[in-house]
Amino acid sequence: MSENQIQDNKLQILGKLTASLLHEIRNPLSAVKLNLDYMKMLKDEMNSELAETVYSCNDAVNRMEYLVNSLLDFSRKSQNGFEIGDINRTTENALEILNGQLVKLKVKLESELEPGLPNFYFNRNKILQVFINLISNAAESLENGGVVKIRTFKRVLEDQQFIIWQIDDNGVGIETENQSKIFNDFYTSKEEGTGLGLSVCKNILDEHDAEIILTSDIGTGTQFKLIFDPKLLQAKYED
Ligand SMILES: Nc1ncnc2c1ncn2[C@@H]1O[C@H](COP(=O)(O)OP(=O)(O)OP(=O)(O)O)[C@@H](O)[C@H]1O
Ligand SMILES: [Mg+2]
Repeated sequence: MSENQIQDNKLQILGKLTASLLHEIRNPLSAVKLNLDYMKMLKDEMNSELAETVYSCNDAVNRMEYLVNSLLDFSRKSQNGFEIGDINRTTENALEILNGQLVKLKVKLESELEPGLPNFYFNRNKILQVFINLISNAAESLENGGVVKIRTFKRVLEDQQFIIWQIDDNGVGIETENQSKIFNDFYTSKEEGTGLGLSVCKNILDEHDAEIILTSDIGTGTQFKLIFDPKLLQAKYED
């Protein structure tokens, strides 16, 4: 078995474990929720501090339930295929999801999403995951805040129209010798990184026959450019 096959297997196992773990968490969570509901019914018999604690536990459990359900939903949906979608919308979804992180890291975000881009076939959940991974990496590369710029636009090359999604940061950059490694499973320079972000991106983009082009210089920053071919995707996924 090759190194890549072993890593693919590990990823598959990890995916299955995560899904079953989420299922397993859901049952005890429901039990906790029922007990809290019961305690809420008895709130008149509690002092106000205790009643407040019960309510804040209830809020926390609701939030956990929401997260577990959205992750389960995500793992289910990621199995179905391609639909016609709007890449700018998906970009905005990713930015909404990451808003808290971007604010915390004091990222100055510039986005130039070309209006009226043609919709095309892609897997919305998977491409959302690609955008989230790339935007997180860009944000994490910045020192003392910095700028992340996202652009979408179309380009015609040899009579063919391509849709481009591009992200630039002025962060630490990537050493030339490491540029060929960053798409490998488990390659990370971060203490708490899994090193799976970019390998997942690469797999998803391969499924979309999309190209990913990296340009990076130490001290200047990094650019990832994704090139989608709507015609090719249409031929592949239209009935
Ligand atoms: N925009 C970027 N600027 C600088 N380095 C980057 C950038 N994007 C990726 N890298 C480098 O590539 C490595 C691999 O990235 P990847 O997303 O696969 O994993 P990670 O970010 O380290 O971990 P995780 O995604 O689990 O948080 C990073 O650790 C970092 O060294
Ligand atoms: Mg990452």
